[in-house]
Amino acid sequence: MKVTVIGAGTMGRGIAQVFAQAGNEVVLTDVYDRALASAMTEINRSLEKLKSKNLIAEDPETVISRISPTNNMVDGKDTQIYVEAVLEKMDLKKSIYKDLNEIVSATAIVATNTSSISINALSASFKYPENFIGLHFFNPVPVMKLVEIIRGEKTSEDVVTKSLGIVKSLGKEPVTSNDFPGFISNRILMPMIREAILTLEQGVSTREDIDKTLRLGMNHPMGPLELADFIGLDVVYDIMHVLYAEYGDPRFMPPVTLRNLVNARKLGRKSGEGFYSYQVKK
Ligand code: 3HC
Repeated sequence: MKVTVIGAGTMGRGIAQVFAQAGNEVVLTDVYDRALASAMTEINRSLEKLKSKNLIAEDPETVISRISPTNNMVDGKDTQIYVEAVLEKMDLKKSIYKDLNEIVSATAIVATNTSSISINALSASFKYPENFIGLHFFNPVPVMKLVEIIRGEKTSEDVVTKSLGIVKSLGKEPVTSNDFPGFISNRILMPMIREAILTLEQGVSTREDIDKTLRLGMNHPMGPLELADFIGLDVVYDIMHVLYAEYGDPRFMPPVTLRNLVNARKLGRKSGEGFYSYQVKK
């Protein structure tokens, strides 16, 4: 299969990698050369790691040779599946679908990796809404087993069935959700992260003990504050905003501490500081 991944950020590069690992030809497109270069470096690093643990049979170079980085989305013409993984900005996504409308075939599947924007709202600006679907991957994509498949009102059953097959062909486990804000995963995860932030804000305990409680008491691999730093506090903030706006329910309301950290550009691991401090990779 030829696959085009649009956006070479954390999620896009991971998605490109797992499609290439499964033997597909991948066009990885981004407007920024720097993003493409850093994506190829990170993909190589991840493949080396997987190879050293015998988790992949092929050499990293063989897998990498299936990925073509490009600035030009037209290189993704004749693709059977497009996965859009750009920032969670409605206008940006819409402008990409406008360009896609010019090159996409009537049979290609177009998937968005959105974590909170409505599939129905996004598919409205796409030429073939019956071929449009949500494929929500989890970070780090090469490690996390789950992909949430979100069907819109107009998504055809054929596209849902094909998407289930595609997800399984990547060695991932699918779950299906209807188009509700936050789908399954973020509807449940965001209130937990929010409550952890409020627990810290109200002085119930320290950040370390809040995280330790979930790690050791509930066997989560990371505590909720560590996880928020890992996801990116700006991403968490944006998702909470969407959920709060759409449900109007205070259990999704972004806490003030989160707002203040985001406004101070303390975005978690990627910026070097969030609830904790990190060394940022140069
Ligand atoms: N490529 C390949 N291997 C990787 C990798 C990558 N990108 N990232 C991590 N790994 C491997 C490591 O090599 C390690 O392998 P090992 O156990 O054989 O040594 C293993 O994964 C664990 O990594 P680390 O030892 O570095 O660190 P941890 O044990 O802390 O694991 C983690 C890291 C896998 C991120 C783990 O902490 C974890 O599962 N955390 C929770 C992640 C999570 O919940 N993600 C979902 C976020 S929500 C989301 O994405 C949705 C969005 O909409 C918000």
